[in-house]
Amino acid sequence: MSSVLWALWYILPAYVANASPVLVGGGEPMDGGRNWRDGRRLLGDGKTWRGFFGGIALGTLTGAVQYVITPDYYGTLKVALLLAFLLSLGALVGDLIGSFIKRRVNLPRGAPALGLDQLGFVISAMVFAYPVKTLPSGGILFLLVVTPFVHWGANYLAYRMGWKSVPW
Ligand code: CTP
Ligand code: MG
Repeated sequence: MSSVLWALWYILPAYVANASPVLVGGGEPMDGGRNWRDGRRLLGDGKTWRGFFGGIALGTLTGAVQYVITPDYYGTLKVALLLAFLLSLGALVGDLIGSFIKRRVNLPRGAPALGLDQLGFVISAMVFAYPVKTLPSGGILFLLVVTPFVHWGANYLAYRMGWKSVPW
């Protein structure tokens, strides 16, 4: 398989973790409705506990399926699961950092933030996963270029499916 496909295979749990809250999220917001000292919401209603833990669970599960398909790429199931967990956790923590920044610059929940929305989660995922397994630098560069397009495509699809109210 080409290195470009391996890069997408590597990052897949982060993509799943980032996308699944749209379907499994909702309920109690993680900031409990509280404000930061600037009087604006800490994170906003778009970041919920169900989305956070649901995304980590589905992203980690993705790693188990990936291990069954390409065991040699991971070596052991433990590595595959730990990698998928760290990629998922990193993706969702990166997403929270993004929302925190958006609220600080007074962008309301759901407002687009070019760059932050499309790349924050994937950079954070790669940083979290780095101690367990990393990609050659060409693969990292490739992901930084294609992830915004994957993100836009997935969000447009979710919008057309009626899962979210804005296409970004
Ligand atoms: N979501 C969630 N919990 C999370 C992340 C996302 O429930 N931890 C759900 C919310 O319903 C959210 C949707 O997934 O509206 C889309 O996620 P995202 O685009 O990241 O959130 P936004 O609503 O755009 O909020 P923000 O402006 O804070 O990014
Ligand atoms: Mg958004």
